[in-house]
Amino acid sequence: MSTSIYTQRRARVAAQLGTDGIALIPTAPERARNRDSDFLYRHDSYFYYLTGFTEPNAWLVITGDGKSTLFCAPKDSEREIWDGIRLGPQAAPAALGVDAAHSVADLDAQLPKLLENRDRVWYPFAIHQGLEARVGSWLNQVRARVRFGALCPEQQRDLCAVLDEMRLFKDAHEQDIMRRAGQISARAHVRAMQLCARMLRDGQDVREYHLDAELLHEFRMGGSQYTAYGSIVAAGANACVLHYRADTAPIRSGELVLIDAGCELDGYASDITRSFPANGTFSGPQRALYELVLASQDAAVAVTKAGARFNDPHDATVKVLAQGMLDLGLLDKNKVGGLDDVIEKRSYFQFYMHRTGHWLGMDVHDCGSYVEPSQVGEVSERKDPLSGEVIKNRPSRILQPGMVLTIEPGIYVRPAPGVPEQFHNIGIRIEDDAIVTESGCELISRGVPVKPDELEALMRA
Ligand code: GLY
Ligand code: MN
Ligand code: MN
Repeated sequence: MSTSIYTQRRARVAAQLGTDGIALIPTAPERARNRDSDFLYRHDSYFYYLTGFTEPNAWLVITGDGKSTLFCAPKDSEREIWDGIRLGPQAAPAALGVDAAHSVADLDAQLPKLLENRDRVWYPFAIHQGLEARVGSWLNQVRARVRFGALCPEQQRDLCAVLDEMRLFKDAHEQDIMRRAGQISARAHVRAMQLCARMLRDGQDVREYHLDAELLHEFRMGGSQYTAYGSIVAAGANACVLHYRADTAPIRSGELVLIDAGCELDGYASDITRSFPANGTFSGPQRALYELVLASQDAAVAVTKAGARFNDPHDATVKVLAQGMLDLGLLDKNKVGGLDDVIEKRSYFQFYMHRTGHWLGMDVHDCGSYVEPSQVGEVSERKDPLSGEVIKNRPSRILQPGMVLTIEPGIYVRPAPGVPEQFHNIGIRIEDDAIVTESGCELISRGVPVKPDELEALMRA
């Protein structure tokens, strides 16, 4: 593993701390699941971004002079028999490019010394339980020494602000991993669709968990370490539950299935949704709604490019979906008025109640401000027509090359008076992952098709 990207990132952080600043970045704790079993360990994204180090029990300290110090689990031949080989502090500088390394057991002894004579201390706010208190106790120890001439930091700063902005722009190394994550996840979607159609053709009892298992199989066969989030496999009406998980419901011929699943590869998430007919053939009403969602996604993709705003794909989507809802009779013109009224009053919200995308990266809902930093002071107010709440708006982020976001319109039709019965309980979402480029965007998840004819063809194959 090349350490240079991490060394460069640490240098960029150091340059933003102030000469006498210091930053503390712990990795994630191990978490007990029950009795002697832990949840599968996942490092902290910020920590990994700056080290490439995946062991638990580790801290990174960066100082404004550009030096970095790692605290990590010490070598322990007995524990390593149970838990695996540890890097250890002695090997850490060569392996990770840090300037110094100590045992994590020395953290409480070392930190007051490292904090002494600094003017500000940075750490990620509100991420690690108990961190604020721990920093407080170290600062208290420094304060006890001020009468001997020591200086104690007077400012605490949120390191997230620095790191979020860096992580928002994916470099070539990150984009390459994300492309591969997208390819693995796309293959898994294809396999799950094909398994579904094949099992139904063979007269088998198909359950949501069968497709969940197929996804996981392909993720792991592709070398991915985890799912990026709990896979959603939702049959029929379950697709209208936005945070449904793959469960035990039977998948029946004639229903649609919604799968929202992506793998995490080398610390980076993918996030793909496809909605497909369980038996491989769309019914008329299913196809009508599907084509509407796809047209709205096409409109969003068309406006996703450098210079556009983060909100532009959402606005493009809403326009197409709202018009389609009127055309298909989901919304009654006589009650809600024309397109402008539907958008103005947000009447489409009955069937489309989420945003069209989010940043994607190490975290599936990745960090990064959705407000344009150069325009944070430009605040306007509007009253939400549905809740009556007054909302403060700031201009949304201007897209730049290297940002990665999802484009994921959907439509969810719960039975309600006046809603045509042929559409009841249909839930559709189409979600792709896009790298913003100068002239447009690169969709890195299209290894699984979206056109209805292509979905039908692959399910027949
Ligand atoms: N899978 C989470 C999302 O689509 O945002
Ligand atoms: Mn998403
Ligand atoms: Mn998703």
